[in-house]
Amino acid sequence: MLRDASSVVVFSGAGVSAESGLATFRSGGNALWNDPEVSTYPTPRGYRAHVPRSWQWYAMRARTAADAAPNPGHIAIAEIERRVPDFLLVTQNVDGLHHRAGSRRVVELHGNLRETRCFDCDARSAWPRLPADPRCARCGGLLRPDVVFFDEDLPADALERARDAAERCDVLVSVGTSNLVWPARELPDLAHSAGASVLIVNVDMTGQMPPGDRVVHLTGTAGDVMPRMVARAWPAPT
Ligand code: OAD
Repeated sequence: MLRDASSVVVFSGAGVSAESGLATFRSGGNALWNDPEVSTYPTPRGYRAHVPRSWQWYAMRARTAADAAPNPGHIAIAEIERRVPDFLLVTQNVDGLHHRAGSRRVVELHGNLRETRCFDCDARSAWPRLPADPRCARCGGLLRPDVVFFDEDLPADALERARDAAERCDVLVSVGTSNLVWPARELPDLAHSAGASVLIVNVDMTGQMPPGDRVVHLTGTAGDVMPRMVARAWPAPT
């Protein structure tokens, strides 16, 4: 399917970065939202209520992401981009590892942890080295990570690009996402309804589209399955 496709979307989630040592949100004993206080941070209200701990928690995640390295799953996804004429990677991840693995056509649906943003004046800046004071140097407003919180809209242009690509593609590969968070979760259905095949790569298929007509389950880790998928689709010349 992949070899014959001229248009491919890869739709990724936190599971892709698990093998780089980054915790996912909902799977495994170290899932980020397991902590009741931390699970209230990703809303404007919950974030403000817990400053400075919420600010320091995001600063710690930004540093952990910067210190992590892309794994074979990220690298295989970048390889698909080089093979397919019309390609888009739609990621829910904020860790920047896809870019560092070489992916270029990337839509970050939930923002990123590369920069901070001011609640008041919207100015973006690099994370301070000592994240003790979450105050904007320009206006004194409260700083936050440049990620999308629950109760906030996704960047409209990113969502539109993602939806357009899903409706146009021949194959959508969903990898390492629980597929629970709206509106991102509609993308596999959108692609399938428009006639695409959907390949689902995950260690656990709970809650995913059932296998069937043009839906294939590939159970395993992203770091194992994705490189094998690429090697099968485009075998190295012998
Ligand atoms: P989740 O934590 O909800 O789901 C991670 C998925 O990865 C699960 O389905 C796991 O089974 C799977 N998984 C774990 N390890 C894996 C591995 N090595 N290889 C492949 N799959 C693996 O993370 P997301 O689906 O990304 O949003 O969560 C979506 C959104 O919910 C996030 O972007 C974030 C969160 O709340 C916001 O903060 C707005």
